[in-house]
Amino acid sequence: MENKTVTPHAKGLKGTIKVPGDKSISHRAVMFGALAKGTTTVEGFLPGADCLSTISCFQKLGVSIEQAEERVTVKGKGWDGLREASDILDVGNSGTTTRLILGILSTLPFHSVIIGDESIGKRPMKRVTKPLKSMGAQIDGRDHGNLTPLSIRGGQLKGIDFHSPVASAQMKSAILLAGLRAEGKTSVTEPAKTRDHTERMLEAFGVNIEKDGLTVSIEGGQTLTGQHVVVPGDISSAAFFLVAGAMVPHSRITLTNVGINPTRAGILEVLKQMGATLAMENERVQGGEPVADLTIETSVLQGVEIGGDIIPRLIDEIPIIAVLATQASGRTVIKDAEELKVKETNRIDTVVSELTKLGASIHATDDGMIIEGPTPLKGGVTVSSHGDHRIGMAMAIAALLAEKPVTVEGTEAIAVSYPSFFDHLDRLKSE
Ligand code: S3P
Repeated sequence: MENKTVTPHAKGLKGTIKVPGDKSISHRAVMFGALAKGTTTVEGFLPGADCLSTISCFQKLGVSIEQAEERVTVKGKGWDGLREASDILDVGNSGTTTRLILGILSTLPFHSVIIGDESIGKRPMKRVTKPLKSMGAQIDGRDHGNLTPLSIRGGQLKGIDFHSPVASAQMKSAILLAGLRAEGKTSVTEPAKTRDHTERMLEAFGVNIEKDGLTVSIEGGQTLTGQHVVVPGDISSAAFFLVAGAMVPHSRITLTNVGINPTRAGILEVLKQMGATLAMENERVQGGEPVADLTIETSVLQGVEIGGDIIPRLIDEIPIIAVLATQASGRTVIKDAEELKVKETNRIDTVVSELTKLGASIHATDDGMIIEGPTPLKGGVTVSSHGDHRIGMAMAIAALLAEKPVTVEGTEAIAVSYPSFFDHLDRLKSE
């Protein structure tokens, strides 16, 4: 296990950072390239551990994929070009790989086995395997097909009209991908709008999609054609430095080329509501996704209430929003966020336990957490990532404001989504 001691830095973070490629979009670019006919080239790919797991799974399924840093070339031969793997498919720590590949493997007439790490082994897969089974796939695994290792025998599926009980883009995407090869039409209706990268990118690959409010439908039997995909910077990675810039005194940080898709940009709304000085410049559309350059400055912050439909639009940012709330005046309430319990860790528990060690006034609720601020954060303690990349980064940012150095245990987990995180932090500290 790697540990990192982060020293406080109240004298200000300054500079410009180009955050790495979006994780959700990088996964999809590789997957859709593997399903398409013709070559797909990806620019701005995130070479994080999760996206490398996706590449390795599709290579095992017989697809030629070359990756060098942020450039990927996928030589797709269409769905029929995928072959039974001679080995198990290891998804590592990646929930997106697991759920989306389940949708794809369900359509393929051979046997596959998926395994992942200890955290993946605890994450619920029935939300995906149940509807896929109802479409005709044979899937089994621990806890009646809920937990990895999972075994899949796919084949000809029939379309379904699925009303999803949880707002999950991974679930929506898995079913839509299966629907692409199913007989007839497949519809997914969500309880709240989730990230729409699958819909946007499938359209760019030539697929016809119907959208009506919270329902997305797809006709089976459509083919994908290889494309050039430009991946925007990941707003979920930018979030750590947006928060650092807003709360560390004397800071001004510019983050360039950040994806601001409205289904992902809930954190920008929250920052504004809390009173942050945030400017958005150079708004443009790149590869079907809106992007902009964001500049944040040290701000006077107030507590807010966060709940309802905004939650899926900022679910991955809640750990770092909790850190920000410790420095805001008054009470911040985060509710309707039960999904936090089934992320890489139970993020209600891990955020509350680690911020409590730093002296924050925070307590867990059934569906979120309540934070009272502002509180000074104390140093001289050791906190843990619990093997969760976003908890590791949230703690490293909190440590910038502590009274003494803080040791963050398990920082190797950060490579899942932001391998250059500490290099970027050091650069902002030195300018
Ligand atoms: C993702 C969807 C979200 C998110 C995850 C990435 C995706 O998960 O938390 O980090 O790429 O579709 P859920 O679908 O479980 O909400």
